[in-house]
Amino acid sequence: MVIVDVVDLRVVGVVGLQVVVAVAVLAVVVAAAVEERAAVAAAVRVVAAVVAVVGGGSNVVVKPHRHEGVFVAEGKEHLLVTKNLVPGESVYGEKRISVENSNAAPSTDENPAVAKVEYRVWNPFRSKLAAGVLGGLDNIHIKPGAKVLYLGAASGTSVSHVADIVGPEGIVYAVEFSHRSGRDLINMAKKRTNVIPIIEDARHPAKYRMLVGTVDVIFADVAQPDQARIVAYNAEYFLKNGGAVVISIKASCIDSTAQPEAVFAEEVNKLKKSSFRPREQLTLEPYERDHAMLVAEYRRVCGTWKD
Ligand SMILES: C[S@@+](CC[C@H](N)C(=O)[O-])C[C@H]1O[C@@H](n2cnc3c(N)ncnc32)[C@H](O)[C@@H]1O
Repeated sequence: MVIVDVVDLRVVGVVGLQVVVAVAVLAVVVAAAVEERAAVAAAVRVVAAVVAVVGGGSNVVVKPHRHEGVFVAEGKEHLLVTKNLVPGESVYGEKRISVENSNAAPSTDENPAVAKVEYRVWNPFRSKLAAGVLGGLDNIHIKPGAKVLYLGAASGTSVSHVADIVGPEGIVYAVEFSHRSGRDLINMAKKRTNVIPIIEDARHPAKYRMLVGTVDVIFADVAQPDQARIVAYNAEYFLKNGGAVVISIKASCIDSTAQPEAVFAEEVNKLKKSSFRPREQLTLEPYERDHAMLVAEYRRVCGTWKD
């Protein structure tokens, strides 16, 4: 199915924009119905672009999501957003939404009031964590001030949103072994100074132990057959007792011949044997096919759980 992907929004009037939104929303519904994921993504991008252009703050209200540090921009569509740590800049071409800051303290010479706050649209088709949030995870453990170890950082698109969420008081240690992706990751971290890029193999945490402190949560998206072992090994080094792991599991990366549900169950079993207690599990449909997100709590009690 082919739908309009690129629209020059500058030459479309407001009425035209409404039509574009309506068509794009319809396209989302139709594409979803026939399971055309690329078409769904394209239509969502059009909706996001329209909101960014017409929103400009006046037509869009940004409200806190129930996950601290995550927000929802309510305009013609509801979009997941994070507060941009580096206002004025996108990281990977994502749309930005600027709104009046109604909570601004009175302006003084020392503390000039910030009149506008800028948010970045967080696309669930490009970030498994965003997909997990929209899918209804109860607790992502990633919140303002949190220390996060992110395994499988790629070029840093999702990491940049995690950096927005944890904010200046938090820190994101971002591990990626591909030097090519690592270049973009390092560039992103030049401005987001709460991100420490680490270009290493996550199978060898000893190699980066000097760079990483104790963390509150490990987020893992390495898409490797031995991901559970990688997570357990990193937890032994860096995760605080009572900390959490949030793991994206791509069934085909672990066993392409088994049913996804059987693969997810087996991954849960592996974690149970490594001092983790599973807390939540959900699939990432409709954003990712045959993926699950698992949240588990970590207790160093000689490898077994005692309630
Ligand atoms: C599915 S992608 C991650 C996407 C990313 N989390 C995002 O949402 O943008 C998996 C990434 O993990 C990296 N990776 C795989 N195995 C790794 C390992 N052992 N150590 C470090 N990075 C690894 C890959 O190079 C790839 O960039």
